[in-house]
Order: sequence, then structure tokens, then C-alpha cells
Amino acid sequence: MRGKSMRKTKPAGSRDSIIQAVEEAGSSDAIFFGYPLRENGLFLQQDPEEFGSFVHYMATKIKPAEYSMDIGIASGGQTKFLRDYYSTDKTIVVDVGTHPVFPHWARIKKDLNSDLVEEIISDSHSPEVRQRLLKYENKIDFAFVDGDHTYHGLRKDIFLTKELMRVGGYMVLHDTLGVWDCKRVFDDLIQAKDFILVRNFAIRFGISIWQLQRKKRIPTAFNRATGRGKL
Ligand SMILES: C[S@@+](CC[C@H](N)C(=O)[O-])C[C@H]1O[C@@H](n2cnc3c(N)ncnc32)[C@H](O)[C@@H]1O
Repeated sequence: MRGKSMRKTKPAGSRDSIIQAVEEAGSSDAIFFGYPLRENGLFLQQDPEEFGSFVHYMATKIKPAEYSMDIGIASGGQTKFLRDYYSTDKTIVVDVGTHPVFPHWARIKKDLNSDLVEEIISDSHSPEVRQRLLKYENKIDFAFVDGDHTYHGLRKDIFLTKELMRVGGYMVLHDTLGVWDCKRVFDDLIQAKDFILVRNFAIRFGISIWQLQRKKRIPTAFNRATGRGKL
């Protein structure tokens, strides 16, 4: 974070204690996710062991972020949970706002351990959204990309994210094990020169952490519009 202020976070403790905290925060579907849904909970769409291991890793191994961005928040429970443990000074969220659990975000964001500097309720692929985000170009230290899960849709989000990220920053993808299109993007990224795979939590859905390398190629208008081309 280059000398900027750090947030006070919950102590990371053990990996198991974070996994337990995920379960206590509540899922959005008890049968599908395997842990209860809680009234006034976080409505997480995450596997406890996978997400808990990821959060513990972020909290203990990755430098705090000054600027962070989440694309695809659903309830925003995942956005909040991570920031309770991993210090992110400022947060940008982008979500189209149509998910059934999205209404919980209005409650959950009140307890966000980060300054919510930008809240964009719109399609991440629209040129207007990019225009609003360009003021963060080369500033994003950490991005969690979990919006459109189609092959070209996810690639468009990655081109947008790459443009905004600073070199050395981290991008996280969700569902790179469980969703075939996202797995194809994972395979593309393995071949990409501008990203290296830092860590892959592959228990159920897949959470992969990628670091942007020294000389990033700037995505072109063609890359952004079609999702095609070298990542
Ligand atoms: C799988 S959910 C996110 C789950 C959340 N990250 C979590 O872990 O609980 C995907 C979210 O992305 C949103 N989304 C899908 N396509 C989008 C797009 N093109 N632009 C913005 N948001 C999008 C959906 O409405 C939904 O809220």
C-alpha cells in the first residue's frame, strides 16, 4: 500500500477459525452451500473451506490494499467478510443489481470495513461504467472479479480490471474450477504473460489469485468490446 493508512481488521487467527466464521456468517442457500442461511447474515455464495482458506491467505500473506474493486457482489457479503480480515482502505463495487440477494447490500454495506468510494449499479461491460472507473487507472491494488460467468463476459471484466490495476496488484477470480467457461479463462490466464498464478484454492468452486506483471499490455478497444485477444 506504499505508506498509506492501514485499516484495523479482525485478527486472522487460524484458518479453521475463519472457516468457522464463514459458516456463522450464513450462506444464501443452506442446501446448495451446505451451511445455514441466517436472517441478517451475509448470504454468502462461497464454500466455507475454500473461501475461509482464501481469506486467511489474504490476511496473512498479501500486503494491505489502498484501492480495491469487486465486480459482482450479489449480497455484498463476500465483499464485507474479506474486508473484516484483509485491510483495504477504499472499495469500489460494480454490480448490475438484479440478483435476488442484492437487496441485502443496503444493510451489509453499512458495516463495511472500508471507505465505499464508488458504488456502480450497472452492467460492468458498458462503456459508461469504464468511463466512471478510469479515474482509478493504475491504482487498483486488489480486485475480486465474480460478475458475468460467460467466457467472453469474464474476459471483458478482466480487460477492464487489468486497465485499472497497478502493476504488482492482485486479481482474484471465483468459479475457476466449478464453472466451465471460467475454467477456460483460467487456462487462458495460465498462458498469459501479464499475469502469474499466485495461489489456487480449488476445493469446490475455485478461487484463484493472479498477480499483474511488470509490463502490462494496455487492453485495446477491441479487447474491451469483444473479450477476445491476449489477456
Ligand atoms: C455469483 S454472483 C456474486 C457472488 C458474490 N461475489 C459472493 O461471493 O457472494 C454474480 C453477481 O454478478 C452480477 N453480474 C452478472 N453479470 C454482471 C455484469 N455484466 N455487470 C455487473 N454485474 C453482473 C450478478 O447480478 C450477481 O450479483
